[in-house]
Amino acid sequence: MIKLENISKHYNGTGVLNNITLEIESESTSILIGPSGCGKSTLIRIIAGLIKPSNGKTEINSVPVTKKNINGIRKNIGYVIQEGGLFPHLSGYDNIVLAAKYYKWKQNEIDARVKQLSELTGLDNVLLDKYPTQLSGGQRQRISLMRALMLDPQILLLDEPLGALDPLIRFDLQKDLKEIFNKLGKTVVMVTHDLAEAVYFGDKIILMAEGSIVQNDSPKNLIENPKNDFVKKFVNAQRTYLDFK
Ligand SMILES: Nc1ncnc2c1ncn2[C@@H]1O[C@H](COP(=O)(O)OP(=O)(O)OP(=O)(O)O)[C@@H](O)[C@H]1O
Ligand SMILES: [Mg+2]
Repeated sequence: MIKLENISKHYNGTGVLNNITLEIESESTSILIGPSGCGKSTLIRIIAGLIKPSNGKTEINSVPVTKKNINGIRKNIGYVIQEGGLFPHLSGYDNIVLAAKYYKWKQNEIDARVKQLSELTGLDNVLLDKYPTQLSGGQRQRISLMRALMLDPQILLLDEPLGALDPLIRFDLQKDLKEIFNKLGKTVVMVTHDLAEAVYFGDKIILMAEGSIVQNDSPKNLIENPKNDFVKKFVNAQRTYLDFK
């Protein structure tokens, strides 16, 4: 579904991603994890087609991504950016329907889809009229998710969707998100800093460091057969939490 081949990205000569090669299967959930600044958001933005790699090839559904077809392909990708990224001057509703309006959906189609999505994400309809600053972090994340799902994309990219939430809300949203992933059969790529969360969601965990993929594996293999000392250390650093779970 998603294929990256020798992707590199540098800014003014500084390498941010080095030779990333990666295949992500259709309808799977892959988790990007790794130390702050290792390139997770950059990689997810390259998959989203929002930044162009310095080198390398991206294919979506076996179609090489080019300047010409990128807009068409982007329609098939929902993206929840780090910190939600809702437009502050638009209500929740207007944030959610932005893309559908751009593509000139009819009002009754928009209404039906919003209804479906608020049921799916468990968001109270009353909250749709509120502006992002009037919503709690968890409510904003549900709106961001609805916005990303509005056009019913096959691919869903989520950059730390549960990052800044209090533990109880986070726990609720984790459960809801997992149910949503299972129900919708999307190809999901999600960033998290939390290994327990990665294990909970991931068919595959992609551990990155300094712009490279260190190990791309099932949660079980990553924990039981770490490829090198870095992976061992990364897993051990979050061990207590995992045992506790
Ligand atoms: N537009 C840019 N110009 C220059 N450097 C950039 C740019 N975007 C990102 N970087 C650098 O690239 C590196 C990777 O950034 P990125 O946002 O991908 O990290 P990350 O893994 O998502 O980190 P975090 O976990 O903190 O969100 C960082 O060192 C960052 O400073
Ligand atoms: Mg990031």
